[in-house]
Amino acid sequence: MRKINIFDTTLRDGEQSAGVNLNLHEKLEIARQLERLGVDIIEAGFPAASKGDFQAVKQIAETIKGCSVTGLSRSVQSDIDAAWEALKGGAEPRLHLFIATSPIHMAHKLRMTPEQVIEAAVSAVKYAKRYFPIVQWSAEDACRSELPFLAEIISKVIEAGASVINIPDTVGYITPKEYGEIFTFLKNNVQNIEKVSLSAHCHDDLGMAVANSLAAIEHGATQIEGTINGIGERAGNAALEEIAVALYIRKDYYNATTRLNLQEIKRTSNLVSKLTGMVIPANKAVVGKNAFAHESGIHQDGVLKEKTTYEIISPELVGVQSNSMVLGKHSGRHALRNRVEELGYTLSEEEINKLFVRFKELADKKKDITDDDLVALIFEEKFDHFKEFYQLSSIQVQYGTNQIPTAVVVLTDGQGNEIQEAATGSGSVEALYNTLERCFQTDVTLLDYRIESVSGGRDALAQVFVKVRANEIETSGRGTAQDVLEASAKAYINAVNRVFMIEKMREENQKVAIR
Ligand code: KIV
Ligand code: ZN
Repeated sequence: MRKINIFDTTLRDGEQSAGVNLNLHEKLEIARQLERLGVDIIEAGFPAASKGDFQAVKQIAETIKGCSVTGLSRSVQSDIDAAWEALKGGAEPRLHLFIATSPIHMAHKLRMTPEQVIEAAVSAVKYAKRYFPIVQWSAEDACRSELPFLAEIISKVIEAGASVINIPDTVGYITPKEYGEIFTFLKNNVQNIEKVSLSAHCHDDLGMAVANSLAAIEHGATQIEGTINGIGERAGNAALEEIAVALYIRKDYYNATTRLNLQEIKRTSNLVSKLTGMVIPANKAVVGKNAFAHESGIHQDGVLKEKTTYEIISPELVGVQSNSMVLGKHSGRHALRNRVEELGYTLSEEEINKLFVRFKELADKKKDITDDDLVALIFEEKFDHFKEFYQLSSIQVQYGTNQIPTAVVVLTDGQGNEIQEAATGSGSVEALYNTLERCFQTDVTLLDYRIESVSGGRDALAQVFVKVRANEIETSGRGTAQDVLEASAKAYINAVNRVFMIEKMREENQKVAIR
């Protein structure tokens, strides 16, 4: 079987999704989980974009040793230098260079002639080869490029030293048949094409990203780029979990395999969804809540008699487990640590100690602590602290059917000062959010509010996800507590803290627009 390399860009193209802003801890956790999943390459970010991106790429490159770590770079020396500084400590440093090749992009965005684009691409690859053993070159908007020009520029970058050639469908425009034909054309018209690896990178604007990626495999691609849950710019990128499972289930057809440990798919998908705040649609292939649910009587009857009547993918294949009860009131620190490790999280001694306190508090109120409860507590302990900004000290909310809802909130700021405010609203959550807005002294618009119970039962933990806009920044936040109002307050504070964090990073270094 042919081996297909999986290039994960959840932390770069995926992080370009509207409202997604991951902090360093969150990026590291996702990178660790991607390593466990078995991806071949992690695109950890765009090092020249900002200090924050640079630091994240550097830390990921220095931490992850089970796969190659790469970073994106425009075709300019300063970007390549920044990328080398960030990536040189990695196990297998590689650079992802790109430049646009379509007439629209060259004329209107780059304002360069095709000859100038070739010159910039070739000199960038040559410069990058001074540092990087592996240079991947991408023709941005390749699918709307003129094929003879694409073939010409690819021949020249291969000659300059590129060893992976990526053909992005940047705007999600191509169809599977046409995409396959581009690969065939390049194989027939580019000198030395057999010496490089061909890569597919598809966006999902017309809902064809996965189908296009699979078509590319049929026509010679040996690397597929995409993201977990298909997150990314606009309609997103190709969903890697769908491609990997399609290759596995239809190995009879594709005769191709990946290195992915499919049983890590569900956990990876959940982690990415929770940390990015991007919900997985219930009917999403492979990882959606309903992907393995059989609703109609005829289907249920069939599955009970013989699973394969209506089930082509078993939930176990992708690591879907029933929510097991693992710990309770009498479980000790040792059992907690073991379970945390089994769940795949890396916590410091201090974090374990804090988690243990939270766990005991919860176990006093809730009989069964499930894996999902534990993961919710781990998230609170590990990722949801923005110590330099605001933390919740206390809330008090008054509600009655014939009363005006009123909230009193006490927050602590990064310097340890207490801020106390009170306000009213037309409902409890509004009263709470009006009060918090007073504490922040910033106008905040609530764009979305979602509440979920972490596990079943009346005593379940509540998890609230919000999307907000403040100071022209859109971001998401989450909060967990047994009480829905406390969870709501935490989610709002978490989102607004992210706004302040982004503003701080922007002040330190203006973020450069990729496009
Ligand atoms: O979609 C795209 O063209 C990209 C490139 C930067 C590879 O993400
Ligand atoms: Zn892309």
